[in-house]
Amino acid sequence: MDKIRIIGGTPLKGTITIGGAKNAALALMPACLLTDETLTLCNLPHLVDITTMAHLLGQHGVAMSMNGAADNGGHTGRVLELTAGEITNTTAPYDLVRRMRASVLVLGPLLARCGRARVSLPGGCAIGTRPVDLHLKALEALGARIDLREGYIAAEVTGRLRGGQIIFPQVTVGGTENALMAAALAEGETVIVNAAREPEVSDLANCLVAMGADIAGIGTGTLRIRGVDRLHGAVYSVLPDRIETATYALAAAITRGNLELVGTRADLLESVIKLLTEAGARVTTTERGLRVDAETDAIVGVDIMTEPYPGFPTDMQAQWMALMATAAGASMITETIFENRFMHVPELARMGARVNVHGASAIVRGVPRLSGAPVMATDLRASVSLILAGLAAEGETVVNRVYHLDRGYERVEAKLAACGAVIERVKDTSPAE
Ligand code: EPZ
Repeated sequence: MDKIRIIGGTPLKGTITIGGAKNAALALMPACLLTDETLTLCNLPHLVDITTMAHLLGQHGVAMSMNGAADNGGHTGRVLELTAGEITNTTAPYDLVRRMRASVLVLGPLLARCGRARVSLPGGCAIGTRPVDLHLKALEALGARIDLREGYIAAEVTGRLRGGQIIFPQVTVGGTENALMAAALAEGETVIVNAAREPEVSDLANCLVAMGADIAGIGTGTLRIRGVDRLHGAVYSVLPDRIETATYALAAAITRGNLELVGTRADLLESVIKLLTEAGARVTTTERGLRVDAETDAIVGVDIMTEPYPGFPTDMQAQWMALMATAAGASMITETIFENRFMHVPELARMGARVNVHGASAIVRGVPRLSGAPVMATDLRASVSLILAGLAAEGETVVNRVYHLDRGYERVEAKLAACGAVIERVKDTSPAE
């Protein structure tokens, strides 16, 4: 398994180009199952999770053609054409779903288009138990019959799904996305109450509208979907990755550097920018994106609490902790979305971070300098938090198990090295762990 080796201590300076949002792309790709025409997605990031989703869609019968980086009417990044002319298989097998939980996003569209779907139940993962009960209740509210047997969700409906009221007791990104896709082709109106407002959900809704869906309230907590008989093809560009953007913004801050992040939008990460500014970095918007300058000011401890959008994202909690580990003073980090998202704490502690966890909160007492160490990545965002810590630490850090990183960050070591980081990928030739 590959490792990333870093010699820390260099302030990052330069420009980093931000790619399309992984979590938007993972919802947009299954939307192709809703029509027999071609859905063309531009600005697609090049990531392992995207390839896994492509495999899954391929085995449902979706024909795909991928073009390299292309300038397609202003769209940049890779372009993927997806055509679900005929759906040949409505089962999402265990082998693919266990690799990537977002596979469950084929459930809503398969059910809406084919009247049935069989999707392996995703198990728990490193950050929590992550049930899908709310996805299933939402689909039941649209008339689906759902059975759990032999580790699979078996969903079916006689005739079409019917519009209904879905009230989510808790905000769920994936649940809202499955409900949106199912409701787009249902008969009559669906109202989703307490819908997730994450930009990735709005990206999916906007793409569905471009495909002919009738959706009101996009970007709010109440979505109204008037089902249509059929959807058509569309060309749609994936929005910039706000978590990749915020991660590199924190890379600038933790190395006391100065980076321009291009191809992104500051309005997607207002909560992070506000807190980063409070912590002492200067964040300004530029014509191409945003600039984070932490060259001269001290970074001080600032408390955060993760919340659904527009609150501080759980997907930035580990990176924030790395930054706070080097800040002046103490800070409290509270995780409210996932019950087990502090797996990076013992690894950061190996690098000299002073963190105490009490239930869902962690107290971080900043130290003047972290020290490099061999560390182990446990999930995607934990991995990148260790990279950030390594960039700031004195000496050598080796991050093991970086396959997590490749699921969500494109060419991370190349992007950082281009801004002065001393970082390389070491191919591991020893037998698998
Ligand atoms: C999405 O996961 C993201 N993944 C996650 O990003 C992100 O951390 C999360 O939203 C929260 O923002 C993708 O978009 C592919 P949820 P999702 O349903 O949809 C509970 C990353 O690092 N819940 O909003 O699975 C759940 O356990 C990843 O890129 C239920 O109880 O998250 C959690 O506590 C990791 N029952 C909370 O809701 C359900 O049926 C929010 O989960 C569904 C969720």
